[in-house]
Amino acid sequence: MAPMTREMSPGGVPNADNVAYYARRASGGIGLILTEGTRVCDEGSYANDVPRIYGDDALEGWKSIVDAVHAEGAAIFSQLWHVGGLTRALLDGEDTSGDKVRRISPSSLVAPGCPAGETMNQKDIDGAINAFAKAAKAARVVGFDGIEIHGAHSYLPDQFFWHMTNLRTDEYGGSLSNRARFAAEVIKECKRAAGDDFPVSIRISQWKLFDFDARVAQTPQELEEWLGPLVDAGVDMFHVSTRRFWAPAFEGSDLSMAAWTRKVSGRPVIAVGSVTLGNDFKSQFGRIKAEAAPEQIELIAASIDRGDFDLIAIGRAILANADWVRRVRDGQAHRLETFTKEHLESLV
Ligand SMILES: Cc1cc2nc3c(=O)[nH]c(=O)nc-3n(C[C@H](O)[C@H](O)[C@H](O)COP(=O)(O)O)c2cc1C
Repeated sequence: MAPMTREMSPGGVPNADNVAYYARRASGGIGLILTEGTRVCDEGSYANDVPRIYGDDALEGWKSIVDAVHAEGAAIFSQLWHVGGLTRALLDGEDTSGDKVRRISPSSLVAPGCPAGETMNQKDIDGAINAFAKAAKAARVVGFDGIEIHGAHSYLPDQFFWHMTNLRTDEYGGSLSNRARFAAEVIKECKRAAGDDFPVSIRISQWKLFDFDARVAQTPQELEEWLGPLVDAGVDMFHVSTRRFWAPAFEGSDLSMAAWTRKVSGRPVIAVGSVTLGNDFKSQFGRIKAEAAPEQIELIAASIDRGDFDLIAIGRAILANADWVRRVRDGQAHRLETFTKEHLESLV
């Protein structure tokens, strides 16, 4: 199950509705749930109703979810999220995190011409890394099977990755390996805090929230320079966020971004994007309606057989079909329901 923000945990505390929502997907046969983005600290908060992964009340809520998911035989990773400068006010018009939250970013930018956040000094960098590490430890104590660092979609680690939002001249800016340093340190500290055997995945994306054609890596060689420090830091898995999982990543090859990531990193890879759906989630109607596209199942199977990726994440389709896995496994893919905006309006 792909990570999907629902903003339905009032005050940041997961409740019985959240438990039932995740348990329903687990009982529908999904193997691994990646939770919605969970905020690692007040500074990194997207919204007040996004669940926290700190504070006894929130951790108790997560424990109920983890236990319910495990009881159904599925695994669950917490997605750790720090927005950096990219607040909800810039995306959805209103920041519900509270007035006093100080915002930070690598170079006071979340896109070219879009200033946001105070430029981070070393203390800010260390503080953000520490927030991720504390969250990783809390996730382990609660019983999660691993964590996923949200390093995609223009949020904090991605603000470091992209040269258009990272203009730093210190060791966190400049070359691709320098721009990967912040995320590499986050990975290392998460491992140190939660234990070396605690699985750590990182989600990455070439595309940015204000620029779908953006590229961190222009070539497979640059991809290797970007991911190398993350591999060296001990990351266990990459989750490659694309809008269409099969789309070729670089000119002159039909390999997808997931396939290239697997090839250059040697790590297991999760692919995602428009699985069994007729449009992508950032298209004009992507969050309004997406017809089921069951014919993709053969392409997914062929891609896994070819070694393009190891896991495939289901996003909107699993909101519309809590039992997506069971239906597909039972040869009932033609019975998958259409995704509609109503699926976003409640935790069905
Ligand atoms: C309602 C909604 C919320 C999302 N929230 C997150 C999130 O919290 N973290 C994240 O990494 N991606 C998030 N995404 C992106 C999804 O994980 C996924 O990559 C995207 O929906 C594409 O998959 P799909 O085409 O199967 O829906 C969200 C997508 C949707 C539709």
